[in-house]
Amino acid sequence: MWLFKKNGPSGFSSSSTAEQVTFGIDASSLTAIVTGASSGIGAETARVLAVRGVNVIMAVRNMDSGKKMKEEIVKQAPSAKVDAMELDLSSLASVRKFASAFNSSGRRLNLLINNAGVMATPFTLSKDNIELQFATNHLGMLLDF
Ligand SMILES: NC(=O)c1ccc[n+]([C@@H]2O[C@H](COP(=O)([O-])OP(=O)(O)OC[C@H]3O[C@@H](n4cnc5c(N)ncnc54)[C@H](OP(=O)(O)O)[C@@H]3O)[C@@H](O)[C@H]2O)c1
Repeated sequence: MWLFKKNGPSGFSSSSTAEQVTFGIDASSLTAIVTGASSGIGAETARVLAVRGVNVIMAVRNMDSGKKMKEEIVKQAPSAKVDAMELDLSSLASVRKFASAFNSSGRRLNLLINNAGVMATPFTLSKDNIELQFATNHLGMLLDF
C-alpha cells in the first residue's frame, strides 16, 4: 500500500493530504494542542486543524517563529482560532509552566498532538541534566493536564 501509494480501506493513501483526509469535517467544538507547530509536520497539522475549525494551541519553543506561523494560518483562514504558547520540551520547568498556563485558561483539551521531537542529536544534556533526545521526546511529553 505504502510503496505503491494505493488507497487503503479508509479510501486514503500515504500520498493523501491532511486537507483531503479531513474534508467536510466541522471540528469547531474541539481544542487541540500541537507541539512543534512552528515548522514541518506540526505546522501543517495546526493549519489543517484550524481550517477545520479546531481551536488550536501551537506549543512552540521559538515564539517568533510560532507567531509568524500563526499569522500565516490566519491569513489563509481568517476565522481560525489559533494561539501560540511557549513550550520547550527539553525543560521540565517550561513543560510545567505551559501545562499550568493551559490549565488555568479553563479550556478543555480534546486533542494532544505530540509532534515535536529531535532525532540523532549529538550527546548533549538538557537544562535538567538529562540526555537531550530522551528529555525532549519522552520526558517532555508527559504533560500533566
Ligand atoms: N519527517 C519525517 O520523515 C519524520 C520521520 C520520523 C519521525 N518524524 C518525527 O515527526 C515529528 C515532526 O517531523 P518534522 O519533519 O516536521 O520535524 P522538524 O521539521 O524537525 O520539526 C520538529 C519540530 O519540533 C520542535 N522541537 C524540537 N525540539 C523541541 C523542544 N525542545 N521543545 C519544543 N519543540 C521542539 C521544532 O521546533 P523548532 O522549529 O524551534 O526547531 C520543530 O517545530 C518529529 O518529532 C520527528 O522526529 C519525522
